[in-house]
Amino acid sequence: MTHQATTILCENAPQAAEMLRQGLLVAFPTETVYGLGADAKNPIAVARIFEAKQRPTFDPLIVHVSNVAEARALTLHFPEIAEKLAAAFWPGPLTLVLPKRPEIPDLVTSGLPGVGIRVPNHPLALQLLMEVGCPLAAPSANPFGGISPTTAEHVLYGLAGRVDGILDGGPCAVGVESTVISLMGQHPTILRPGGLPREEIEAVIGAVQLASSDPTRDDAAQPAPGMLSRHYAPSTPLRLISTVEPAVAVFGKSNGLLTYGADNDVDGFTTVVRLSESADLRTCASNFFAALRSLDAAGVDVIIARCFPDEGLGVALNDRLRRAANEWLE
Ligand code: TXA
Ligand code: MG
Repeated sequence: MTHQATTILCENAPQAAEMLRQGLLVAFPTETVYGLGADAKNPIAVARIFEAKQRPTFDPLIVHVSNVAEARALTLHFPEIAEKLAAAFWPGPLTLVLPKRPEIPDLVTSGLPGVGIRVPNHPLALQLLMEVGCPLAAPSANPFGGISPTTAEHVLYGLAGRVDGILDGGPCAVGVESTVISLMGQHPTILRPGGLPREEIEAVIGAVQLASSDPTRDDAAQPAPGMLSRHYAPSTPLRLISTVEPAVAVFGKSNGLLTYGADNDVDGFTTVVRLSESADLRTCASNFFAALRSLDAAGVDVIIARCFPDEGLGVALNDRLRRAANEWLE
């Protein structure tokens, strides 16, 4: 199958499912961000995901299924701890990395023995997964390294002509990607903080580890794949501050500010985006990527972003901010 020159807006889940069965790429909504979907058992369709996103093949894809039975069927072993997490958090923003069965193409997992699996909590995604009858590999539906899409318009902005269809389900409620936890080793390890806070996971299974990524190391040598030091990046330079007095950080000719809460002094900024007046982290997360996009489009010299408290969803938001702010490592 070659690329279709145009991207069609799918009218419903059955139409999108039919396209996916033919090996085409269809972007679909989830509660976290839009995914760029393909039949996970069709290596050619999966290869087209990497091509469309211009994504390096060392960065593995998450496989989406509609229920826990389908998840078990993709793994060699589904331990008790996975059962507990699935029962507590699926459908939801949690990806479990478990030993994969050989039917899953190596390209999906970048040759790793583990496969990332999740059941998304979005009615259209679930309907699509039930209709299509195969697991769907789906990374976030944006060009590699760019800002993740939380609306169908964002998907078109980055991938028009590179994705065959889009199923529009409106804006994503959670707004940051799933938390990825590996159950491959002796201790459960969070590979990527995300839409399910660590505290909620620990309330169910006890203490978990957090994989550390060292930004001074080469990307391909990071402890977990996909933990790239630069990611989610706007094209405007981004600087982080921790103060509630952002005005002290003004240093470009025109400055944009990404902040939250009602208490900050915003003098000196040409464009201000306040994610949540009440500093509610859920609201901050659901508005986060759209806010980065609008600041990127505002034509300012520099975007100043205020860090979040390092707890709950704030951990995932700070992770995205740090990666968005990093310069490419030479
Ligand atoms: O919320 C989400 O997770 C969204 C929606 C579409 O489900 N998907 C998403 O996919 O964010 P993506 O490809 O942008 O990020 C997936 C990340 C990879 O970069 C990698 O860090 C981790 O998940 N991952 C996936 N499969 C893995 C595996 N087999 N082993 C280790 N890490 C894996
Ligand atoms: Mg992504």
